[in-house]
Amino acid sequence: MRTVREVVAAGAGVALRPFGFEVRDRVLSEKPEGFPGYLAAAQRLGMDVNDYEESHLGWYPAPALLEATTFPCLQSDSIVCEVGPGTGRFSRWILPRIAGGQLHLVDHSPWIVRFLESYFREQPRVHVHLGDGQSLPFERQRWIDLVFVAGTVVALKLGTIQLYALEFARVCKPGGTLVFDYIDPTTAEGWAHLQTEGHRLPDVYTYHAPQVIDRVFADAGFEAFERRQFGKSTYFSARRAPR
Ligand SMILES: C[S@@+](CC[C@H](N)C(=O)[O-])C[C@H]1O[C@@H](n2cnc3c(N)ncnc32)[C@H](O)[C@@H]1O
Repeated sequence: MRTVREVVAAGAGVALRPFGFEVRDRVLSEKPEGFPGYLAAAQRLGMDVNDYEESHLGWYPAPALLEATTFPCLQSDSIVCEVGPGTGRFSRWILPRIAGGQLHLVDHSPWIVRFLESYFREQPRVHVHLGDGQSLPFERQRWIDLVFVAGTVVALKLGTIQLYALEFARVCKPGGTLVFDYIDPTTAEGWAHLQTEGHRLPDVYTYHAPQVIDRVFADAGFEAFERRQFGKSTYFSARRAPR
């Protein structure tokens, strides 16, 4: 039996075809990126979707990245906020490192939020939140030990990055840590990426010079900047300045 949605889509498809429009089975407000397709492909192979993303899509292995950028800053009772977690590729490794802590996952995609609620349903220390794409859905200030963001700022415009920088500063405890990656076109890897993927997907990726990132995050209240290069990504880490 067809769902109401399928009937509406079929009817709209027939009505709009003479005008050159095609109705696809995709709800844009769900902001799912490619994840439903990755999930379906992983399920066909009997794999965890996060393993699939690394083994079949070539995404940089999460454990090595976390080991180098994030794990040294975690305590067992840390409160961590991850923004843009996708299907939890990093979250699943962060969680066991904070056995007495909390992991707050914030994403602007309702599809991702539903997926993560199901993926982590046995984990009471994981809290999944729908965000508005530029702020954090927490009223509380200065309560998070570490904010982690991977593969997300690489697509954000500077205005959005600046809004998030202020939010990260607002929720981080003094001395708390921020880790995220962006694409720096002054690095050899970032410049090469611009020539290939930047040209192929010009509406997806953004490129920011290090001086600009430094200024945005210093103005927001971060200090002690460090950078490490992993593939196209420059991983930036910073400490929330005490006020
Ligand atoms: C390319 S995926 C990366 C997923 C995951 N971090 C990883 O590396 O496997 C980008 C993620 O960020 C989310 N996202 C994109 N823009 C966002 C925004 N402005 N605010 C919050 N989440 C966002 C997407 O829904 C998706 O979950």
